Amino acid sequence: MNLNITCIKGDGIGPEIVTEAIKVLDKVADIYGHNINYTDILMGGCSIDAYGVPLTDEAIEIAKSSDAVLMGSIGGDTVTSPWYKLEPSLRPEAGLLKIRKALSLYANLRPAFLYKELKKSCPLREDISDKGFDLLIMRELTGGLYFGERKTENINGEMVATDTLVYSESEIERIARSAFEVARKRQKKVTLVDKANVLDSSRLWRKVVDKVSKDYSDVNLEYMLVDNCAMQLVKDPSQFDVVLTENMFGDILSDEASMITGSIGMLPSASLSDGNFGLYEPSHGSAPDIAGKDIANPIATILSAAMMLKFSFSLDKEADIIEEAVRQALSDGYRTTDIKDENTDKEKIVGCSKMGDIICGYIK
Ligand code: IPM
Ligand code: MG
Repeated sequence: MNLNITCIKGDGIGPEIVTEAIKVLDKVADIYGHNINYTDILMGGCSIDAYGVPLTDEAIEIAKSSDAVLMGSIGGDTVTSPWYKLEPSLRPEAGLLKIRKALSLYANLRPAFLYKELKKSCPLREDISDKGFDLLIMRELTGGLYFGERKTENINGEMVATDTLVYSESEIERIARSAFEVARKRQKKVTLVDKANVLDSSRLWRKVVDKVSKDYSDVNLEYMLVDNCAMQLVKDPSQFDVVLTENMFGDILSDEASMITGSIGMLPSASLSDGNFGLYEPSHGSAPDIAGKDIANPIATILSAAMMLKFSFSLDKEADIIEEAVRQALSDGYRTTDIKDENTDKEKIVGCSKMGDIICGYIK
């Protein structure tokens, strides 16, 4: 199969972790006889430095004409980096929001799974982590507060800032369908997370999701308020299967969900549009403090590459092999520093590129 992939290495640890994901993809492609073409585009701070904007229209066109996008991470230290002296629409994050909107990547899948090997790194009480968990946050990615109108104005001598949270029925319906479809292939449970006791938008979400659920009578639908969900995620994450939620709530809850797996360095994500197109990136950020030191954890990006094979190319077997290789590396005791614990064999604490090599070694 020919795979045309746009690569966004980005900023901070981005180039290091994407390099490892490519190493793993190439190994799989080699074994299974696939041909992968990578085209690099700039996004984030590196694009600002090169072109003065976080993402050019030309770069978007390149991404659009490919089959899928593999991304590292973007942005820098928000206090010290000069990128954050620029006006908001020119900062690194604006590039990410622009590509999400331009490619209509409305369904953001963020799985959070506790590997039994990483139970020691899980910050939850042992009786909770013992039960394990395997959940998926289905975050709406192109609407809500992120894309509503915003302004800051002077009213009667003081500054007033407004952000608007807008959702239409059709935007809710399409992500709800994605959530039910995914749930069908998992534990057949969707928890809609919202703030329906306060927000009109949440009440519309409930109405639309309830209606969509009629087409999926085999899937169980539950409702949960977002503050309660934040609590339940640390109290009993095993109760969740698919957590369906709007953009901002999903942003916050997915960081929480990632941390209870032991490290945010473990979590992949897929951002999908209609059809097979998707952008795949780790759920974590660019970690500028550890950039260039070869200590970042590449696993989230490697697992994102596996999601890409599965969702954009239907190469399920190849994806499974990558996931299995990651599991093997963990069960044989290999750890990057973010996931090591007091029992880790010192010889098996490895850097970013070594972890990539080790995972490749299990792909045969
Ligand atoms: C994420 C990030 C982004 C978001 C930022 C970088 C704009 O936190 O992908 O979760 O808020 O969506
Ligand atoms: Mg986030």
